[in-house]
Amino acid sequence: MIGYEYIKRIGKHPAAWLFRTELHPGDESLLSCAELARAERITNQPRRREFVAARCAVRRILAEVTATEPGCVHLATDESGRPYMTEDNRYDFSISHSHDMCAIAVGRDVRVGIDVERVTDRPRLDRIAEFMFSPDELTAWRCTEPARRVAAFYRLWTRKEAYLKALGIGLNGTQARSTSTITLPPENAQSAWHAQVGWHWTEPEAPDGYQAALCWRPSEP
Ligand SMILES: CC(C)(COP(=O)(O)OP(=O)(O)OC[C@H]1O[C@@H](n2cnc3c(N)ncnc32)[C@H](O)[C@@H]1OP(=O)(O)O)[C@@H](O)C(=O)NCCC(=O)NCCS
Repeated sequence: MIGYEYIKRIGKHPAAWLFRTELHPGDESLLSCAELARAERITNQPRRREFVAARCAVRRILAEVTATEPGCVHLATDESGRPYMTEDNRYDFSISHSHDMCAIAVGRDVRVGIDVERVTDRPRLDRIAEFMFSPDELTAWRCTEPARRVAAFYRLWTRKEAYLKALGIGLNGTQARSTSTITLPPENAQSAWHAQVGWHWTEPEAPDGYQAALCWRPSEP
């Protein structure tokens, strides 16, 4: 892999990478016509840079794990916005970017989702939680002691987002569902949940000021 400022590579299966977003010379030549057109439509320059850099990084990672060249990795997007690799459906991947940080997860014969968020003590956290969390999650979160509430918010948010990405449920498309209709198992019940339905969660160690979560399950046979 060429010169990314890697913060962390976590695990082997699925593997996840967390690194600073950076562009390399010629990166745009790796993008498909659809991706270039999408990049053109992103007027916010940092967001555009994040998009281009992440799509190039994921091609380099997929090329490495499938022993090919980044230019031979072809990506498409399903109707929910979930990207996939067109020539090898054994591999699944997920991308997240947040304020100069990029997270990518790649696994074989799994469904995988990853999320990274910058942790900020946003005003009106409670209103956002009301909108995003299910009633049970909201009750549990509100019982967190005040000093830990911001961290608990981002832990739940990223685990939930990673799960939604693994499922391929976004806020757009025909599969779209309100996030408040989905309840994650409490952290202390996740191993039991895993035994029942096969989903795993881990929290990749993220740099200061960021929170990340990885979620995966073996693919359906
Ligand atoms: C689009 C969504 C998947 C994530 O968006 P986000 O958190 O704003 O942004 P991230 O950078 O973490 O993820 C964006 C990436 O997710 C991927 N993605 C988009 N739609 C996806 C879907 N339906 N399923 C899986 N992955 C998807 C894409 O790779 C996208 O990157 P791209 O711009 O390079 O194509 C979706 O879950 C969403 O709309 N979230 C909004 C926030 C929210 O409701 N959070 C609830 C948490 S409690």
